Amino acid sequence: MIIDGKKTAAELREELKKKVAELRSTHNAVPGLTVILVGEDPASKIYVKNKEKFAKEIGMNSEVIRYPADTEEKVVLNKIKELNEDKKISGILVQLPLPKHIDKKKVIETILPGKDVDGFHPMNVGNLSSGYDSSIPCTPLGCSLLLKKAEKNLSGKHAVVIGRSNLNGKPMTQLLLKENCTVTVTHSKTKDLKAECLRADIIIAAVGIPKLVKGDWVKKDAIVIDVGINKTDSGIVGDVDFDQVSKVAKAITPVPGGVGPMTIACLLSNTVECFKKLN
Ligand code: GUN
Repeated sequence: MIIDGKKTAAELREELKKKVAELRSTHNAVPGLTVILVGEDPASKIYVKNKEKFAKEIGMNSEVIRYPADTEEKVVLNKIKELNEDKKISGILVQLPLPKHIDKKKVIETILPGKDVDGFHPMNVGNLSSGYDSSIPCTPLGCSLLLKKAEKNLSGKHAVVIGRSNLNGKPMTQLLLKENCTVTVTHSKTKDLKAECLRADIIIAAVGIPKLVKGDWVKKDAIVIDVGINKTDSGIVGDVDFDQVSKVAKAITPVPGGVGPMTIACLLSNTVECFKKLN
């Protein structure tokens, strides 16, 4: 089974479009998403453009604030503070990576937790790991929804997460624990990654190494979710060798068309949730 992220994301956006229309009639207001982009990173520019496009498509208000790469940190922090106070804004996202002279931690901590649609604020990170209500980072949330397409009940499954980033690996681990999985978190210092993967019922590859996970790393009938988006001479490839692994796995996400489209759909979903809580 190839898990179709493009279709699943389109379905989620359709649902959200209806919810936004409902909010428009019941609250006479719609969720508003503001994205801040500092600098000219080409991949970030594309992501941000798509975030704005899809937000508008489902009827939300959406704005992108673009700053040149040499913008002072305090300008960005002051803008965030202004957006925190703005009743029309339900979600604030500062696109990463940021230029080196801007402290990412300070930026994230300045966003009001209730408008933190990325779920990166320490308050949301803590709430997620404690099992309390929180914004959930968009990419891991998208991965969970795709996993559910392949397997409804994840309880007792052994999941191996490759990568321990704050964006993906760590929140993904929390979501899998919530589903009662047994979770192994692996990373660059893991001794025998192949052996760890071979024990997995579920593999989440979020490490940024092209085609790292090979066919002989995967147990028959495992579910494989590929978070990787790696630029190579032969185009964009994931962290999983799709040709090899798709012959072994029960279900697998393709790249492109897997996790990628889900990230933006989940961002829109988080913005709707923030709107509801704020109102
Ligand atoms: N850059 C790459 N992925 C993300 C994301 O999910 N959120 C933000 N803010 N920046 C990113």
